[in-house]
Amino acid sequence: MEYILVREQYEPAVALIQLNRPKELNALNTQLMQELRDTLQQLDKNDSVRVVIITGNEQAFAAGADIKQMSDKSAIDMLVIDQFSTWDQIRRIKKPIIAAVSGFALGGGCELAMMCDMIIASETAKFGQPEIKIGVMPGAGGTQRLTKAIGKAKAMELILTGRFITAEEAQAYGLVNKVVPVEMYLYEAAQLAKEIAQMSPIAAQLAKEAVNRSFETHLDEGLSFERKNFYLTFASEDQKEGMRAFVERRKPDFKGK
Ligand code: HXC
Repeated sequence: MEYILVREQYEPAVALIQLNRPKELNALNTQLMQELRDTLQQLDKNDSVRVVIITGNEQAFAAGADIKQMSDKSAIDMLVIDQFSTWDQIRRIKKPIIAAVSGFALGGGCELAMMCDMIIASETAKFGQPEIKIGVMPGAGGTQRLTKAIGKAKAMELILTGRFITAEEAQAYGLVNKVVPVEMYLYEAAQLAKEIAQMSPIAAQLAKEAVNRSFETHLDEGLSFERKNFYLTFASEDQKEGMRAFVERRKPDFKGK
């Protein structure tokens, strides 16, 4: 891996992926995205990992897709390169993913953070979709996910002006889960990850899938999907263990079976 660093057991059952092109503010070139995709797919199959954190560095989570790599491409080049198939594969990762964001999360960087399941931000984080300023528009889900996260009025404003918002604003709009001082954002993300890692990984995956389904379907279909996943949890030993532990007034020990 050239552009990412991976710590498989950053905390017990919690993996950490660090985007690592610091000089380019972690601009997301196709190789970085492929490395990220490959790593996430491996971690998704690794039973010793239950939650993944994606982070950058203090200065930047990611300042967007790599503009230099894209600048002279034609529409047909873009079609053939088909970079979004990598993004689609990342979208299908089953384990919970937390974005730990400090500094710039712009364009594709903001879209990557939004593709994660939760966002913990440092007070210095800045979110935005500035593609309009370079004559394009969001292409990795920004018009959809930002609108769903913060509503039409604010999403239009950010996407049509390219303005950035602070971490505090992002929290007020419902884009991020929590804002903490810069020295705490990774710690805070790890705390959240550790808490989730103690749950049944089967229940967590099925719940993640059902929450995400709410963005893609009507209520009736979403409720029916949720119900089937709920029933499916009863096929796991973790369901027996969880309910037995409640009755026996002890902490459950979920095995992911
Ligand atoms: C390539 C980038 C980059 C990017 C920064 N750099 N962002 N390179 N692609 N998206 C590089 C700069 O060229 C520079 O390298 C180095 O990182 C530091 O950046 P500076 O601009 O010197 O830093 P600063 O003055 O602090 O400004 C920070 C910034 C600015 C506000 C974040 O860099 C910026 O506006 N970046 C572009 C943000 C953007 O437009 N993102 C959307 C991209 S399109 P050199 O070698 O020149 O010194 C997009 C489409 C998504 O994301 C859809 C497909 C996935």
